[in-house]
Amino acid sequence: MRSFGCQMNDADSEVMGRLLEREGYGKVDSPEGADVIILNTCSVRQHAEDRALGYMAALKRIREDNPSVVFVLAGCVAQRLKSKIFEKIPFVNIILGTDNILELPRLIEKAIKKPRERFLVTEVRGDLPRLGKGFWTSSSYGCTRSSELTGLVTIMRGCDNFCSYCIVPYVRGRERSRAVKDIVLEVKEKVARGCKEIILLGQNVNSYSFNSSDFADLLREIEKVDGLERIRFTTSHPKDVSEKLINVIRDSSKICEHLHLPAQSGSNRILEGMNRGYTREQYLELIDKIRMEIPKISITTDLMVGFPGEKEEDFEDTLRLVEDVEFDAAFTFKYSTRPGTRAAKEEDDVPLETKKVCLAKLNELCEKMAMEKNRRLLGRVEEVLTERFSPREKKLVGRTRSNKTVFFSGPAGSVGKLLPVEIEEAYMWSLFGRFLG
Ligand code: 5AD
Ligand code: SF4
Repeated sequence: MRSFGCQMNDADSEVMGRLLEREGYGKVDSPEGADVIILNTCSVRQHAEDRALGYMAALKRIREDNPSVVFVLAGCVAQRLKSKIFEKIPFVNIILGTDNILELPRLIEKAIKKPRERFLVTEVRGDLPRLGKGFWTSSSYGCTRSSELTGLVTIMRGCDNFCSYCIVPYVRGRERSRAVKDIVLEVKEKVARGCKEIILLGQNVNSYSFNSSDFADLLREIEKVDGLERIRFTTSHPKDVSEKLINVIRDSSKICEHLHLPAQSGSNRILEGMNRGYTREQYLELIDKIRMEIPKISITTDLMVGFPGEKEEDFEDTLRLVEDVEFDAAFTFKYSTRPGTRAAKEEDDVPLETKKVCLAKLNELCEKMAMEKNRRLLGRVEEVLTERFSPREKKLVGRTRSNKTVFFSGPAGSVGKLLPVEIEEAYMWSLFGRFLG
């Protein structure tokens, strides 16, 4: 199993892995020698799609060596291209849509019996996959974090925002939220199995809505779970951050002080073209409000360069936004046309070379900001959840509440523990510190 793209795919990969474990399958570390090969794919940008399809196509040698291997292409590329994938890569046995992951074991069984047949299940459903009681994952299938310590819990699927550049609403369908009690049950089970931290996932978690419960209500319910130490969530949309949500984060000892708030651009003209639902001024006002209530909060973002019609002054506005907000980290992207979206009707008129130059400039500024933010932590004592031992650094590795990676020396048996660590060195993407035993 190989998972591409976002953490929602990681969570789905975990679910598929667990379903197969229940059927007696085990995990192998390389495609050679596997009986079933599953790629869970991403189509948010053309590059991601090409990468996933290229990876699958390159596995042809395995098919040639062994006609009985079952190849599954799952995730957003499956959902978007459907049967067209069979034309591109004829040896794929199963194309599995994002809402159909629970059907995987049944389909594999069929594919084993009928190796020449091709199976396509890409039905976008009105409901959500129900995992039922006793559902947990024992090994990590997608996430870089250990699933024994950090549980990924999908709380909603789909998106209704239709940002003009984005393929997600077309492939993942309309927003659907899981029942509060199902989510709480899953969290309890993960905690009972040893998870200390939960990451709540959704394309737009803060538009979670089930009966009369909104996202802030859900957080309050999850917070009551005994033994759970930390709650994280991603992704939040700036237009849906309510005062109630800010207050719940402020008042909670478990919800970590970190918000991922994609800004996408700092130019009002571009934000309008993107259909983001806020202006630069509203975004800045929101950041001020959040920082007023939660001064230690770290804020990360997604930014895009080269949206159709973007001029130099628009890009300058994005640079100024980064300076004004001082993001802790940013994921930056070159605009990529997605067929069928509103923006795809406009000419992709920013030359690739310009996009590359802008991206490099933007990255340089974001890195400078990240470094500056990390330097401010020098000498401070941070609560670190210890995740693993890094053989390369010969140190323990964990994360602060603000989601920063810290390397530090500490006693054996610290994995899974929350430890106080004094920050001694700051780099762009990591910190080094000393355990205050
Ligand atoms: N081109 C480039 N980046 C995109 N993203 C979403 N759609 C596109 C696109 N068509 C970026 C956004 C989003 C992140 C997950 O991917 O910044 O927040
Ligand atoms: Fe895409 Fe916008 Fe929905 Fe995020 S909020 S998934 S960028 S449409």
